[in-house]
Amino acid sequence: MNYRHAFHAGNFGDCMKHALLIALLDALQKKPGGLFVLDTHAGIGQYDLDQGPATRTGEWRAGIGRLLDYAPLEMDRYVGLIRELGLYPGSPRIIRALLRPQDRMACCELHPEDAVTLRRLFARDPQVAVHARDAWEAIGALLPPKEKRGLVLIDPPFEAPDDFAQMAQALQRGHARARNFVFAAWYPIKHRAPVREFQTQMKQSGIRDIIAADMWLRPTLDASRLNGCGLLVINPPFGFAEAAQAMLTALSLTLADGPDGGCEITRLVDE
Ligand SMILES: C[S@@+](CC[C@H](N)C(=O)[O-])C[C@H]1O[C@@H](n2cnc3c(N)ncnc32)[C@H](O)[C@@H]1O
Repeated sequence: MNYRHAFHAGNFGDCMKHALLIALLDALQKKPGGLFVLDTHAGIGQYDLDQGPATRTGEWRAGIGRLLDYAPLEMDRYVGLIRELGLYPGSPRIIRALLRPQDRMACCELHPEDAVTLRRLFARDPQVAVHARDAWEAIGALLPPKEKRGLVLIDPPFEAPDDFAQMAQALQRGHARARNFVFAAWYPIKHRAPVREFQTQMKQSGIRDIIAADMWLRPTLDASRLNGCGLLVINPPFGFAEAAQAMLTALSLTLADGPDGGCEITRLVDE
């Protein structure tokens, strides 16, 4: 396990994922019933962007750094929450900030040191369970929960060549166990071939109601570079696709260096 999110926290992939995550939770919370949120690849929960690993790559400057300087209207909700939380939040802390008293969250983190850090962050929080366990195995073990509705965020590091395949399998296993749940799976877009293969696999999975929200900052040609990213969503809430289109259009315009940024919301499978 070489990947440490601390080096990449705050990059454009984080901004895209977290802005859409907030939109998904906001939509789910329009109904009063308690939610179960599973964050399968959680990281350490919060990051100091002014010292340590984040300063070594500086990736955050072209992501959250730029948004804090110039936030388009469509990103107000996301940027407002980031400002409110102080230390730059990862997905578990964003989810925790949005939980209502009737909601709960479980997070998995396999890296031993990162799992300890995350446990410390949520020590004595009765609404949060931290599991130092493998995400792919946890999807089978923790689903279905007692709650009827909820969200599963899948955000692997994509350092293993089979991460796309693992994710496609995990989505199928997870969906079979919690059919009403929203599943959101983040993926990198370096070049298009692996993304197309993953989306085709999901189209043929038999699962209904799937969209893909893709965003890129430059042409998706150089396979050695993170040129864009996407979020595949199963059971997207009503109005989410339109909200995602507006947010990703604004985000790609704000963060792209030149004229080659863009975004696309694609319906892969009908309801
Ligand atoms: C991209 S980062 C997660 C970032 C986090 N979701 C966020 O948005 O702030 C991926 C995390 O997954 C962890 N990880 C890698 N393989 C894992 C596995 N099989 N099970 C659980 N966690 C894993 C890594 O240690 C890393 O912290």
